[in-house]
Formats: sequence, structure tokens, C-alpha cells
Amino acid sequence: KIPVILDTDPGIDDAMALAAALFSPQLDLQLVTTVAGNVSVEKTTRNALQLLQFWNADVPLAQGAAAPLLRPLRDAASVHGESGLAGYDFIDHQRQALTTPAFQAIRDRLMASPEPVTLVAIGPLTNIALLLTHYPECAFAIRQLVLMGGSAGRGNFTPTAEFNIAIDPEAAACVFRSGLEIVMCGLDVTHKAVLTPDFIATLPGLNASGTMLHALFSHYRGGSMTTGLRMHDLCTIAYLVKPELFTLHHCFVAVETQGEFTAGTTVVDIEGRLGRAPNARVALELDVEGFRAWVAEMLALTP
Ligand code: BDR
Ligand code: CA
Repeated sequence: KIPVILDTDPGIDDAMALAAALFSPQLDLQLVTTVAGNVSVEKTTRNALQLLQFWNADVPLAQGAAAPLLRPLRDAASVHGESGLAGYDFIDHQRQALTTPAFQAIRDRLMASPEPVTLVAIGPLTNIALLLTHYPECAFAIRQLVLMGGSAGRGNFTPTAEFNIAIDPEAAACVFRSGLEIVMCGLDVTHKAVLTPDFIATLPGLNASGTMLHALFSHYRGGSMTTGLRMHDLCTIAYLVKPELFTLHHCFVAVETQGEFTAGTTVVDIEGRLGRAPNARVALELDVEGFRAWVAEMLALTP
């Protein structure tokens, strides 16, 4: 099994990624860490603990950064609801987060692991940047970082920037400069990772997880389910389990931190015009039918 640490800001599509990380037989989810992003870190932590309790999952959780490295948090409550997981009434969780902050908990887990661990980051990259800054010696214990963020084209938060990168551009710049093996699942593929309204309508008939996810999906993006829903964060787990669904391009990626209009933009040098060494594998194409088949298979394994 692939040992995995998941850094997340649930978040409705984060909940779907967490389900896949917990129930994909190929993966061994060892730690969940939370970050401020879609909503405050107190809320993302509560949401993640409620989800872990819902799934009766015995995975430790550490709370992470409350704000981006240098900027105030701008959240996405308009997309995910004030709570971050609008639409379903979870029972209050009885769980405790670890007492160490996320970046330290990740370090502890990496150092204790007999084999390199895969990091999956599906929120702003604040915790990962803190880890790499405070504990650069950890890099050797990271097999790869698979992240949802960025875009080779248009953005979804500003005209050119995607939310997770735009919220903490300095953290993202630090991560892309780090020399880690990076797989970037940006909007180029996540906009294709759409679950159809017909498929979503079958979820309540599946099991308790399907009922819960359907309730969340009914509130995602203000409930605009008619055109289907983009499963941004789920693409990272899909890549780990079924890499053959993705077409990757190895190239140089920089994160703009200065631009008047472009802060948080990932500059993806597909044609190698900047003459810089490649630092990321950027997912550019997705086998959509294969993705949907995998989602159905994966959901059938949830309780
Ligand atoms: C990303 O932004 C968040 O709202 C989602 O959870 C996802 O991680 C998509 O741009
Ligand atoms: Ca997210």
C-alpha cells in the first residue's frame, strides 16, 4: 500500500477526496492535516474530524496554519457554505486533534516511516511550505507531493489564478522551488473531472456515504447541480490510484507572487520558453470516462 499524508481544507470536494483516500485499497492514509482555506482552520479541523468520525476512521489529525504565510485569509464560504460542509448535519464529533501543529505532525510521521511517504495537498500550501522551511531534512522522506492547485490557463479565483494557489502564493512559490517531486493537478484536469447530475442522483440509493455526499453536493456552489460538479480535489487521489487516467507534462512551473493582477498564478512553461529545468509534472489531460468509472467503483467500497 502507498503510505499517504493528506493536507486538506474540507470543503465539499475535499470530503470526496478524503473518502477516496480512506477507502481505496491501494492507499494507507496515515495522517490528516488541516489548513485554513475554504473556511477557517477551526472549521476545516472540525469538518475533517466529523468526516473521520462519520467513516469511523482511526486516522490521527493535526490542525495546521490559521492563515496564509503573509496574507490574510480569503475564504470560499460562498462555494462550500459558512460551515465549509453545508448541507449535512453531522453529529458533533468526540475526537481530539493531536497537540502538535500540522507541519510538526507531518515531520514526525515522515521521520517515523520506514519508507518514503506521499504527500497529498488539496488546500492552500501553507503547511507544506512551513514543513519545508522548518524541516528541510524531511524532503528525502517525501516520495512525492501530489497537489490540487494552479492552472496552465485560466483561473477560478482571479482571471489567471486558481483558489488554492491564490490564497497563499508565497507558500506555493516555496513549494514549487523546493526540488520535491511534484505532480500538479490543476484546473486543466479538474474542470474535466465532472460528475454528471444523473450520477449524483444515484448516490442516495448507494449507502450512508452516498446519502451524505449527495446532501453536500446539493449545496456545493449554491446548489447548481444542473451542469454536473467538478471534483477538483478528488483528482489527486485518482492520480495516485489510477495514474494511467492522466496525461502529464514535465516542465517548469513558477508561481507569481508580485503581479498587480496575477499574484497566485502558476506560470506553466509548457513549451520550455524560459529555458528552466522542469520542476513539476503537470496533469493536462484526463480520461473522463475512466475517472467516472473509478469514482463509482470507489464509492461502492464506502459504508
Ligand atoms: C480548490 O479550491 C477549493 O475551493 C476546493 O476545495 C479545491 O481544493 C479548487 O480551486
Ligand atoms: Ca480543497
